[in-house]
Amino acid sequence: MVGLIQKILLDMVRDVAGEEVLIHIKQEAGVAPDKEFQINNVYDDEEWQKLFAAALKILNLTPEQADEIYASYFIKDALKRFPTWFNMSKNSYEFLLIQPTIHNCFATSVLEKKERDAINDKFVVDKLPHNPKKLITHYRSHNHHCGLYKALAKGVINHYQDKAEIAETHCLKQGDDECQIHIEWSKLGA
Ligand code: HEM
Repeated sequence: MVGLIQKILLDMVRDVAGEEVLIHIKQEAGVAPDKEFQINNVYDDEEWQKLFAAALKILNLTPEQADEIYASYFIKDALKRFPTWFNMSKNSYEFLLIQPTIHNCFATSVLEKKERDAINDKFVVDKLPHNPKKLITHYRSHNHHCGLYKALAKGVINHYQDKAEIAETHCLKQGDDECQIHIEWSKLGA
């Protein structure tokens, strides 16, 4: 997993619970107490899963609560760090349509083909020819972060002050071969 994700988790824990709790979480996950993550480096997925699980346990959060808090930190950080992606989209439909492209930009700097392909293959977004207010996202990843996808999509929709319903019709966690997330807008800014 590209280190931006771990870095934001660490920043979030530092902010809500302080440095000591962060060190406790790292210990629980088997991560060295002084380890920091660089936003463009790729780190082990298993290490990420352990860090996220340790954060849930020690902060006493449900996965849904963790996804909501993490998503709000992530969007604040992304708005500061990558404002161009937000400025080039006039509404949340346009932003969510280019979300796989944003991700794949990170993959281009990764040298190993296997790791590059793993990033590129996670998301596919379909436009519907007869419905310009609906998108269907196909998500496949052993990290099983469809809850995070929905929380981030909600954050993006709120950022643009749009309104949309999000429904997950298929889910890897229920044994389906992908997560399928349908987003249908009732209000879309121009
Ligand atoms: C400027 C905005 C964004 C940036 C810079 C960004 C960047 C990234 C990066 C670098 C990763 C790690 C990729 C990997 O190693 O595979 C990631 C993961 C992820 N992102 Fe984004 N992202 C953005 C917006 C979004 C949005 C809007 C959503 C959802 C609607 C989203 C959903 C996810 C999910 C679910 C993952 C975890 C993927 C997995 O490993 O299973 N991201 N993002």
